[in-house]
Amino acid sequence: MEKKVTSDSKQKGVIVRVLIFIVLSVFTELLLWKKLTFAFQIRFNLIMMAVWIPIIELIMSYKRYFRLHRQNYWGAFMLPLILNIVINLFIFKYLNIFGLTTILSTLIISMLIDFESGVLSAFVFSTFFGLLFGFDFRYAIIVFIPGVLIAFVSQKITRRIEIFFPFLLGSLLQTFLLYIFGYSRNTLDFIIIVAVNFMGILVSMGILPFIEYITRVYSDIGLLELGNLNHPLLRELSMKAPGTYYHSMLVANMLDSSVEYIGGRTVLARIGAYFHDIGKTWKPLFFTENQKDENPHDKLSPKLSSLVLDYHVRYGQELAKKYRLPILIEDMIVQHQGTRVKQYFYKKYMETTGNKNPELFRYPGPVPQFKEAALLMLCDITEAYARTLKDLTPAKLSESIDNFLQSLYFEGQLDECGLTVKELKKIKGTIIRTLLAMNHKRITYPKLDEKDIKR
Ligand SMILES: [Fe+2]
Ligand SMILES: [Fe+2]
Repeated sequence: MEKKVTSDSKQKGVIVRVLIFIVLSVFTELLLWKKLTFAFQIRFNLIMMAVWIPIIELIMSYKRYFRLHRQNYWGAFMLPLILNIVINLFIFKYLNIFGLTTILSTLIISMLIDFESGVLSAFVFSTFFGLLFGFDFRYAIIVFIPGVLIAFVSQKITRRIEIFFPFLLGSLLQTFLLYIFGYSRNTLDFIIIVAVNFMGILVSMGILPFIEYITRVYSDIGLLELGNLNHPLLRELSMKAPGTYYHSMLVANMLDSSVEYIGGRTVLARIGAYFHDIGKTWKPLFFTENQKDENPHDKLSPKLSSLVLDYHVRYGQELAKKYRLPILIEDMIVQHQGTRVKQYFYKKYMETTGNKNPELFRYPGPVPQFKEAALLMLCDITEAYARTLKDLTPAKLSESIDNFLQSLYFEGQLDECGLTVKELKKIKGTIIRTLLAMNHKRITYPKLDEKDIKR
């Protein structure tokens, strides 16, 4: 039943995207030539859809993030693409046909999603204008190639100033290709290309926050802005639950280094760790890291304690929605406990009632759906465990991480995240090193007499 619903909504999504391109082609013909011809519309749309449906739809359906949050990711792909096509239609009509540039959409899509999606958007863009430019595919390739370069240099941008590289390299390559393919040898054309590309990066930076807000798909620049510790949620966490705040910072360091080791998204990992326990601002004293002497769980039944613990995940999710945090951060909040059983309370429940039903003590889940979320789960458990130890030794930590991994595997918590055993082995050493470095003991300084240091 559920499968049928998702395949129905998938089909609807494809139809919507096909309709968008049909509307766009009608708009294009009316704008450029002030007429509407059946022959052009049929020919244009047939070729466009022959490119779109088998290639773009197929590749995107295999992408993990598109499968997880179809609407958000299609929004992040389509909004910049359509906007850039419309802007370039005006450039085509009123400025210079050689000034067409993929920079706006390719830059934004590569920053929001990934390199491959950036290249695909450049492919759609260049096919669209190649068709308009007298069905000239050689011209489409000239528009496409700078797009690939732009996607490549844009994928790792973490600071605004770095958008200068896609601008510079994209403009140079575009000028060079137009020149050697003999489309233009006019200096004015080349100046227009540089000017249009420059406008492209300015508009991109201007609209990026809006696209992020609408789609909840964030670039690293947007994520870093959220993680500047001045975010109202993080400030509230630091005031109401300082223990959890400190725990989150430690987990962020561990996660950052382990995600880097497997080539994942380190910025997403770090900011996800900052926010993962944000739900603990509701009743912070029910969580050990914030307790001093009293434990309020002593007065509660194990079942009620379990509900309180569940609520830190659910309330975290509510806050993520309310503050429009990135959709992947919401996932990390929801998935960091997976569907694990709260063993302490379950044991207490069995001892007091004699009943056995672990389902009552499971976190709501789901289990982690991507690598960063799964490693957050592992770092979260390891940090909490390390806090209980008096002496941290590499051997002790190594053994306990092995035990955690084994039980997470056994419980099926790592089944859907895509992490391989090889990757897990790799990051074990990194987690241990970071934990030991963070917990190093300070040497005690000898106390000197004041008269000994007086001048
Ligand atoms: Fe938690
Ligand atoms: Fe945590």
